[in-house]
Amino acid sequence: MSEQAALTLDRIRAAADRLAGIAHRTPLLTSATLDARCGARVCLKAEPFQRGGAFKFRGAYNRLSLLSADERARGVVAYSSGNHGAAVALASSVLGVHAVVVVPETGSPAKLAAIEGYGAEIRRYDPARERREAVAAALAEERSLTVIAPFDDYDIMAGQGTLGLELAEQAGELDLVLVPVGGGGLAAGVATAVTSLLPGTAVIGVEPAGADDTYRSLRAGRRVSLEAVDTIADGLRASQPGELTFPINQRLLSDVVTVDDAAIIEAMWFCFSRLKVVVEPSGAVPLAALLAGAVRADGRRTAVVLSGGNIDPADFASLLHSLPRTTPSTIPNSPGRLQPRDAAGAPEGRSEGGTGRWVGPRGQAGNTASPPAHG
Ligand SMILES: Cc1ncc(COP(=O)(O)O)c(C=O)c1O
Repeated sequence: MSEQAALTLDRIRAAADRLAGIAHRTPLLTSATLDARCGARVCLKAEPFQRGGAFKFRGAYNRLSLLSADERARGVVAYSSGNHGAAVALASSVLGVHAVVVVPETGSPAKLAAIEGYGAEIRRYDPARERREAVAAALAEERSLTVIAPFDDYDIMAGQGTLGLELAEQAGELDLVLVPVGGGGLAAGVATAVTSLLPGTAVIGVEPAGADDTYRSLRAGRRVSLEAVDTIADGLRASQPGELTFPINQRLLSDVVTVDDAAIIEAMWFCFSRLKVVVEPSGAVPLAALLAGAVRADGRRTAVVLSGGNIDPADFASLLHSLPRTTPSTIPNSPGRLQPRDAAGAPEGRSEGGTGRWVGPRGQAGNTASPPAHG
């Protein structure tokens, strides 16, 4: 089956049926301050209120509920100390499946405690000596477990796509959707749902400047691997786009833009102070793109995915403390105060005078032109 045929609206709808009554239908938040600042109507899809505190439960539960009786009896293994690990642990406990989660021994104790709290077995590895994928594969082999990949799996993507399905239903008409990109599973699922249900809506991916593998890969026209990643957005530290997610994102995303860590912290601050919502760095990346002016809404009906809220309270406090002392009234009422990644070192394919605008494959392929990402 080709990748086009493999992630379809029907597959996402089937995932939504499985998740009905199990996952939360998360709310759309709005803020008059945000609308005024962006010059557009903006809604925020609030996945910190999802089970497990992030959208990841959608994909994990969908994938696990498709296991055969035999696979369920043998158990699963996932490699992630973050939201995917916790989501697999939680979905496994809901479905009565034994889960092993492979985590770095240097991982945050709070995150490991969350995974253990959901009842998963923890298997620690030394990141200096071992690769987590290899550790998981060896365990899978030894104990006949099924590996649950974090993003490169159509049923994981279909589960994440249910977020896009809900968004289209809840928001009605939309011109622009902003979604974070790590390995690209969430973006692929959301873009598939949104572009099928609301044709003409531009879906723009947002990455941290210090982990801009998809941004570079789209411009290079192939999957580029970064030698190192450096960002506070721990869920977006993928160094290479997924093999299955990349062609979908290449086809469906209108653009990918990047934001720096300072912009991410400002977006977290905005969510906390204005919306009273705790959003983790990875989850605040798309809002950071709007607030920093990396994407201009310019009157377009815009939806922003706040993908998760899992952060250690002490880390949250110290990130917010690291902001220069400002009050809401001293923050300019217009986007662009914090600049997105500048043109230095921009990968090939950059256009539009260093604004960061990328004319994506949809445009190159002569498909329906999306509204411009930047004003
Ligand atoms: C909160 C949050 N947002 C976004 C992502 C990125 O998801 P994907 O890897 O499917 O692109 C992750 C991944 O862990 C995450 O935890």
